[in-house]
Amino acid sequence: MSAADAPAERAARLREQLETHNYRYYVLDDPTIADAEYDRLLAELIALEREHPELQRDDSPTHRVGSAPLSAFEERAHGEPMLSLANAFSEADVSDFDRRLREALGVGEIDYMAEPKLDGLSVNLRYESGQLVTAATRGDGRVGEDITANARTIRSIPLRLHGDNVPAVVEVRGEVVIRRGDFDALNERRLARGERPFANPRNAAAGSLRQLDSRITARRPLTLFVFGIGEASEALPATHEQVLETLQHWGFRVNDQVRRVTGVSGCLAYQQRLIEAREQLDYEIDGVVYKVNDRQVWRRLGATARAPRWALAHKLPAREASTRVNAILPSVGRTGVITPVADLEAVEVGGVTVTRATLHNLDEVHRKDVREGDAVMVRRAGDVIPEVVSVIESRRPADTRPWCMPAACPVCGSDVVRIDDEAAHRCMGGLYCPAQRMGALMHFVSRRAMDIDGLGEKLIEQLVSRERVRTAADLYALTRSDLRGLDRMGERSTANLLNAIEASRQTTLPRFLYALGIDQVGEVTARSLATHFGSLDALMAADEEALTAVPDVGPVVAESVRRFFAQSHNREVIAALREAGVDWPDPVPAAEAAPTLPLAGRTFVLTGTLEGFNRDQARARIEALGGKVTASVSTRTDYVVAGAEAGSKRDRADKLGVTVLDEAGFNALID
Ligand code: IVH
Repeated sequence: MSAADAPAERAARLREQLETHNYRYYVLDDPTIADAEYDRLLAELIALEREHPELQRDDSPTHRVGSAPLSAFEERAHGEPMLSLANAFSEADVSDFDRRLREALGVGEIDYMAEPKLDGLSVNLRYESGQLVTAATRGDGRVGEDITANARTIRSIPLRLHGDNVPAVVEVRGEVVIRRGDFDALNERRLARGERPFANPRNAAAGSLRQLDSRITARRPLTLFVFGIGEASEALPATHEQVLETLQHWGFRVNDQVRRVTGVSGCLAYQQRLIEAREQLDYEIDGVVYKVNDRQVWRRLGATARAPRWALAHKLPAREASTRVNAILPSVGRTGVITPVADLEAVEVGGVTVTRATLHNLDEVHRKDVREGDAVMVRRAGDVIPEVVSVIESRRPADTRPWCMPAACPVCGSDVVRIDDEAAHRCMGGLYCPAQRMGALMHFVSRRAMDIDGLGEKLIEQLVSRERVRTAADLYALTRSDLRGLDRMGERSTANLLNAIEASRQTTLPRFLYALGIDQVGEVTARSLATHFGSLDALMAADEEALTAVPDVGPVVAESVRRFFAQSHNREVIAALREAGVDWPDPVPAAEAAPTLPLAGRTFVLTGTLEGFNRDQARARIEALGGKVTASVSTRTDYVVAGAEAGSKRDRADKLGVTVLDEAGFNALID
């Protein structure tokens, strides 16, 4: 029988396939078909149901896209009340709880299930004969709002329970959240459309779940994690652990951090583990929950009016705290970028003592107007580096002044420069600055630069920490005895390395220029500069006007080059290198001259996410073909390459009439 002959069978088959794919994607995080294929199956089912209205059903995945808006939510009483949880704020509270239970039960030790307390909205899903019939918010615990149409759009909520052993009636309870990655993407989309971003995932989840128009809910990336069962027409397993397993079999997502633990020590160790894992979790949590595993105990202990006696929510320490900024220190990173860092009066944040917080860059310092002496809120979030959130202006001392970036590098004294459209300030002493030593040396010896084989990061680290090497020029003074005695340096490797250093003395001007690690000067630009000026001395003497006359060199590159050679420290290192015998033929041999590359003179801006490349790879491809990549779109931009989730740069390109390439277009161009 073909599909066209049997619409009812075909519809049933499509529903089953679509729900299986939903489950794999949204519950298991393990999809087995491409999005386009899923969309095709869904489109077929929508068409089939439209053509044969008698085939429409409440549990069809076609409802996952939302339906006509409601005028108001109806009230919906829960089969069993949705209680709250008693709170513990300290370890002593947890001990008291455990002691009370042990005494009441007359046992020596209790097994608990420990779970993250997700910070979202709880929902009650009622299934009859395995089919989702209603979904309600918690409301006052007895009666909530009917959000069935919205719940149907949440793909991790099964419309039909899996398996044969499902009770005739069962209420499943869980927390609806927006996962962090989804939240960031959602806010980026909103910003790109000129809409206001959500303040946090919880607000976004709440706003999305309480939409009268379920088509809006359908577009929000909501996820349900289940944590229990309310009313049930049949007996449930003996332990909470087994109940969670059962829920998993029915097709729900149970949090993967749930663990069985024993006694207070098990509970506290679990809490500590989650405090440490908190930043890596893909969702927000505001505590952990301990539940007695044996459900017979649940019946024996019962509940107060508000909360069950067999469960406890243990709050996590707040991730924000107030403290004072002792000083704002410019910190020079390995690439020369200078980050303002707040030196703080020590404060405990989220269970960890914090004495420093990043202020990212000068614009951020000014935007938040953080000053030395200010009282500030600091936060640990997202990544491990704490950050200053805001200034508590009411507590600002009388004599503060706005902070300025120093004009000279605090480490080496070279000029500090903000290059054109970058947010960052940089130390211009790239070749000399001790803060940049490791990075500069690693680049100097790399294959496409001076190509000194056998000089890896570990070895450079040892040479730098023993102060045998301060700048690249010191490499050429290394002796056998300097190298012997370093980790893993035998007779043979020492000889090989000395040979490689020796061989690198004879190089080419483009390689040497590239090896200097001048910001904005990649291999292609190094070659153009060498060809154009013919000698290092001519290049070092060039002013910005002369530099911008070089094909492919714009004002940003020109400024960076001029600033680099203007630093006396850099000039000293270059002189020392030449004195050490580093040499190249002048003028540049024809073979090294820049051939006319296919993208020569073309300027690109990258935005959004490409599937086939990361940013650096895309940039490398463009540069290898002679093109240039810049940060912002202007009338001088030739192409904007827009990947997924491209934002304002794409809009600007449209406004300025700049050609926008999607990934396929970009691939065609570079092919
Ligand atoms: S158990 C009777 N487990 O916390 C037991 N609740 O303060 C009631 N929540 O309304 C809930 N994660 O919204 C439980 N793993 C978890 C939870 C959790 C988050 C929320 C839920 C509940 C509130 C109780």
